[in-house]
Amino acid sequence: MTDRDHLRTLFRFFACTQCQGRSPLYALLSETVAADDALLGLLLATPASQRRPSLLFAAVNHLLRDRTGHQLAAYYPIHGGERPVDEQAPAAFRAFCAEHPDELAELLATRNTQTNEIRRCFALRLGLRRIAAHWPGPLTLLEVGTSAGLNLHFDRYGYRLGEQSADSGGGAPLTLSTTVRGGGPADQLLGETPVVAHRIGADLELVDLAADPAAGPWLEAFIWPEQVRELATLRAAIELARREPHPLVRADAVRDTARLIAEMPGEQPVVVFTASLLSYLDAPARERFTAQLSAAARTRKVAWLFTEAPGLVARTDVAAAALAGPLRDTGEVYAVGISLRGGAERRDEVLALADPYLEWIAPAQGEADDFSWAATEGLFRPAGK
Ligand SMILES: C[S@@+](CC[C@H](N)C(=O)[O-])C[C@H]1O[C@@H](n2cnc3c(N)ncnc32)[C@H](O)[C@@H]1O
Repeated sequence: MTDRDHLRTLFRFFACTQCQGRSPLYALLSETVAADDALLGLLLATPASQRRPSLLFAAVNHLLRDRTGHQLAAYYPIHGGERPVDEQAPAAFRAFCAEHPDELAELLATRNTQTNEIRRCFALRLGLRRIAAHWPGPLTLLEVGTSAGLNLHFDRYGYRLGEQSADSGGGAPLTLSTTVRGGGPADQLLGETPVVAHRIGADLELVDLAADPAAGPWLEAFIWPEQVRELATLRAAIELARREPHPLVRADAVRDTARLIAEMPGEQPVVVFTASLLSYLDAPARERFTAQLSAAARTRKVAWLFTEAPGLVARTDVAAAALAGPLRDTGEVYAVGISLRGGAERRDEVLALADPYLEWIAPAQGEADDFSWAATEGLFRPAGK
C-alpha cells in the first residue's frame, strides 16, 4: 500500500470509529479528505509521525478561530456557526485549506496532537474513593501523561450525573457532566473524595500553559466543532490552571516513574494516575512502566489508577478477574481500575467501564463482575463479533 493509500484508509477509519455519533462535520470532512489527493498531500508533506487526521482538523480549526467570517466557520458551532452540515461543506473546507497553505504547513510540521480530556476526572474520583476505602487517610497524586495537568485540579471542579450534582464547596469554576450506563452503583462517582496532600503531573511532551501563550489555543483546537459546552469547560479549566498552577515536570513514564514516586513529599500512599497513556507505549515499554510501579512499592505504598484500553491493561501484570473475560481483547471502551501495590499486598480491580472520553461510565455490578452484561447491552463488541 502506498503512503497515500494508507493515509486515505486512516481518514476513512477515523470517520467511522471516531466521528460517528460525535461529529457529523468531521465525519463528512474525513471522507472528503480520504477522496482528495490535494488535501491528503498536506499531511503527506510532513514526516510520517505527523500524518494523523486529528492533526489536520486541529490545524484548520486553530486557524479558523481568527477567521470566523470564512464560509467554513458557518459549519462550526464552536465558532458561532449555525449552518447544518450539507453538501457545500467539503467545498468550504477545500477553499479554506487552499487559502492558507503556508500556515497549515507550518502547524502540521511543528505541532503535536495534544489533548487534555478533563471529563476523565470522573474516573479519577471513582478510583481515589476506592483506594481510600482500602487505604484510609490522605493520598498523594502523580499523574503520568498529564498533558497540561488539568486533571490535577479535579477537586476544584463541579460534577453532574444526570440530575444529580456535586461541587467542590467553594463554587466550582466549571462543571463536568457524564451519564451512567448499566445497572451498577453510581454512588462512588459523586460525594467527598479523599484529601490529596501533594500532587504533581509528569509528561514527555508537557503542555506548559504558564510559559507558552500558544499552548492553550492549541489544546482548544482539538475540541470538535459541535462541542460548544466542552470548549467553554476547557477554557475555564485552562484559566484555573494558569491562575493556580500545580507542579508539572517533563519526564518519561517508562524511565522516570519510580524516581518521581520516591521524590514525592510526605509518607502517604502515592496514587499514580494514567488516563489514555498506555496506547503511547509499546509492549516492552508498558512492562517497564509497571515494573517501575512495583519497584517503587517496595518502599512506599503505590496505587496505579487507570482509565485505559482494557486490552492493553490485560497485557500488563494487572491480574483483575474482569480482564480475563470479554474485555480482554477490546480497546473500544476503557476500563477504570486500580492496582494496589504495597509491600506484600497486591489487589487489582476493575471498577467501571467507560467511554474513552468519559461521555458515559458503567460501574461494575460487584467485585467479580466480568462485564459480559455490558457486551450484551451493546456497550462494547467482544473480539470477533
Ligand atoms: C491522550 S493524552 C492524555 C492526557 C491526559 N492524561 C488526559 O486524560 O487528557 C496522552 C499523554 O501521554 C503523554 N505521553 C506519551 N508517552 C509518554 C511517556 N512515555 N511518558 C510520559 N508521558 C507520555 C503524551 O505526551 C500525552 O500528553
